[in-house]
Amino acid sequence: MLIDRGYEFSSETDTEVIAHLLVYQNKDNSLFNAIVNSLSYIKGSYAVALISEKEPDTLFVFKKDSPLVIGVGDEENFVASDIPALLSYTRKFIFLEDGDIAIINKKEILIYNQKGKPVKREIKHIDWNPVMAERAGYRHFMEKEIHEQPRAITDTVRGRIGLDSGEIYFEGLKEIKDKIKDIDHIIFSACGTSWHASLLGKFFMEKFAHIRASSEIASELRYREPVLDEHTLLVSISQSGETADTIKAHRMIRSQGVKTITICNVPGSTLSRESDGVIYTHAGPEIGVASTKAFTTQVMALLLLSLYIGRENNTLTKKEAKETLFKIVEIPEIMRKTLNKKDLIKELAKKFKDYKNFPYLGRGFHYPIALEGALKLKEISYIHAEGYPGGEMKHGPIALIDRTFPVFVFAPHGNIYEKMIGNIQEIKARDGIVIAVITKGDEKVRSISDEIIEIPESKEEFSIFSESIVLQLFAYYMATQLGLDVDQPRNLAKSVTVE
Ligand code: M6R
Repeated sequence: MLIDRGYEFSSETDTEVIAHLLVYQNKDNSLFNAIVNSLSYIKGSYAVALISEKEPDTLFVFKKDSPLVIGVGDEENFVASDIPALLSYTRKFIFLEDGDIAIINKKEILIYNQKGKPVKREIKHIDWNPVMAERAGYRHFMEKEIHEQPRAITDTVRGRIGLDSGEIYFEGLKEIKDKIKDIDHIIFSACGTSWHASLLGKFFMEKFAHIRASSEIASELRYREPVLDEHTLLVSISQSGETADTIKAHRMIRSQGVKTITICNVPGSTLSRESDGVIYTHAGPEIGVASTKAFTTQVMALLLLSLYIGRENNTLTKKEAKETLFKIVEIPEIMRKTLNKKDLIKELAKKFKDYKNFPYLGRGFHYPIALEGALKLKEISYIHAEGYPGGEMKHGPIALIDRTFPVFVFAPHGNIYEKMIGNIQEIKARDGIVIAVITKGDEKVRSISDEIIEIPESKEEFSIFSESIVLQLFAYYMATQLGLDVDQPRNLAKSVTVE
C-alpha cells in the first residue's frame, strides 16, 4: 500500500514499514494521532520506541506481545526490553499492556490504550538491585549464576515452608487456593530448559501429590486440542515470562476457562500478569543466555508446588511433607559442596573439549537432567549432544557408540542405580568412554567408568540439584576452553519473543 503511494524503502525490515506508515498517517502533525491511526494496520508482535526530530525530548512507545518496560526515575525516565538493563538507574517499573501507547519525557509518563484513551498503569517496585546484574568478579555471567544457586534456592524456599507444620505457603496462589482442591490433572507447559524443569514437575506431582500430570512443549501444545475440563490446571513455566510460544499456549488454554499458574523469575512479566496464580522463583536477574539458576529454582518451585498440592488435596500426609521439607533445607549446602568439584570438572573439560558427540544418559528423575546437560553443551559450546533415557539406548542409539563417543552417565544411588550400571557396561563393551556422575564413595561405578564426578549423598530425587551444577560447569568449561562467547552464544536470544 505504501509502495503504491510512492514510499521508497531502503531495507526489508518491518521497522522501516512502521516508520513510513507513521509518516503516511501523520495528517495533523501529531505523532500520537499517527500512532493511534497506524495501530490498526500493524499485525503481529512488536515493541516500538521512537523519537521525532520535532520533539527530541519525548519518547513515544507502543507494544503488543513483545516485552517492553518503562523505568521510572527522578527527572528521568527510561524504556528497555527488560528489567536488568535499567537496574542501575531505577527499581520502579511500569509494565505496558498489549496495545498501550506511552508518551514519555523526563518529567512525566502518559499512557493511553490503543484507541487513544488515557489509562492508568501501576508503578511496581522491583526487588532486584544493580549489583545482581553485574559480574561481581566472575569472568562470565554464566559462571556467576552457576555459583549463585545455593543462595537462589534458599531465596526460593524462604518464607514458603513450615518445618514444624509440614505446610507450604504461596502468597501468589491465594486467589486459586480453593480451585486447587478440585483439580485432578495438571498440564505443564514450557520451552527449552523450562520444559526440562516441567518434566521434573510432572515427576514430583506424581510422586508427592499423586496427581495425573503431563508435561508439554508449549510450541507443540498451542497447535493441539488438549482434553480440558474444570478439574484441569495449567502450570506455565518461564524464566522470562515473555516466551512467545509459552504465552500463546497459555492464552489458548486459559481462554477455555482453565485456571492457570505461572512459575516465573521476572516480576511483572506478561505470563505473570495473565495468570490466576504466580510463583516467583527469586533467582534474581539471569543475564547469561544459558539458563542455570533459573532452572534449579524452577525445579525447587515445582517441588514445593507438588507438596503444596499434595497437602491441599490430602494426598500427601503431614508426616511425609515434614520429612521431605527437612531434606529440602539441606539442598543449598549440598549444592555448595558440589560447586567444590569445579577444578576437577575443568580438567575433564580440557581433556574432552575436542570430542564431537556427547550422549547424556539418565533414567527417572535423571532423564530430564540428561536432556538439560545436552542442551547446555549444545547451546554454549556448539558440540553435538543428545539427552537420552538410559533404557532407550538399546532401541537404537547404542549403534553409535565407539571410542569416539564419551557418554555422560548420571548414576547416583537410588532406584535406577543398578540399571545405570547395566548401561555403563553396554557402553564399555562397545569401547565407549564413560564419564559417570556418582554418589560420593561409590566404588562400584568408579571401577567400571573412565572418569567420575562425585556428588554428595542425598535423597535420589534431590540429587538432581547437584547433577545440574555438574552439567552446567562441564558445559561452561568446555565452552571457555574452546574460546567461545559463553554469555551470548551465536544465534540465541535470552528470551525468545518470536514464534
Ligand atoms: O524464559 P523462558 O524460560 O521461557 O525461556 C525458555 C527457553 O528459551 C530457555 O530455557 C532456553 O532454552 C535457554 N537458553 C536454555 O539455556
